[in-house]
Amino acid sequence: MLRLRPYRLDDEAAAVAADEALRAEDFPFLLRAPDRTWAEFVQDQRDHVYVRTLPGEWPPGTQLAAVDDDVLVGRVSLRFALTNPFLLEHGGHVGYAVVPTWRGRGYATEMLRQAVIVLRAHGVERILVTCDVANDASRRVIEKNGGRFERLSAVDADGGPDRRYWIE
Ligand SMILES: CC(C)(COP(=O)(O)OP(=O)(O)OC[C@H]1O[C@@H](n2cnc3c(N)ncnc32)[C@H](O)[C@@H]1OP(=O)(O)O)[C@@H](O)C(=O)NCCC(=O)NCCS
Repeated sequence: MLRLRPYRLDDEAAAVAADEALRAEDFPFLLRAPDRTWAEFVQDQRDHVYVRTLPGEWPPGTQLAAVDDDVLVGRVSLRFALTNPFLLEHGGHVGYAVVPTWRGRGYATEMLRQAVIVLRAHGVERILVTCDVANDASRRVIEKNGGRFERLSAVDADGGPDRRYWIE
């Protein structure tokens, strides 16, 4: 059974391996500033300190490990507010990734379902979720979680075009 939980000190090897696997797809698994040790990263997530590498004002948020039988199969990154132009137009409240070897088993769909519950517990009522226009798997994940298509995002220095959805 899949569950989301905070990262722990003993997750480092699995998380770094997942990050390397996702880097081949140019998608970061771990959103971690290079100057943060694993222990500091774990504490940052518990303190809801978001990523320190990105410019702009970053809201409170956290990254959670997605585990099945305590095996790391994916992660979600949660933003509890949309405080900068990138998040407002492209990033949204939640991002997710599944380790390549664990795909196609419904994990991402379940991760987004649980992420919505966590976001709501932090006061986010309307949840913005976006995906690249070419990302059919992510589009399905969002639609299966009740995402209502709003519009294509702008194409600008921050990215795009993305498909923008709201989960009410
Ligand atoms: C997108 C991603 C999270 C999907 O993870 P997953 O665990 O394989 O997703 P699920 O098993 O829950 O499948 C979701 C749906 O996508 C479909 N799907 C999976 N791979 C697909 C593909 N390559 N093309 C089209 N549909 C696909 C599945 O069939 C399923 O739909 P269905 O229930 O109607 O059959 C995963 O591919 C990933 O981590 N990609 C890299 C990071 C990324 O793109 N993150 C999302 C950013 S918005």
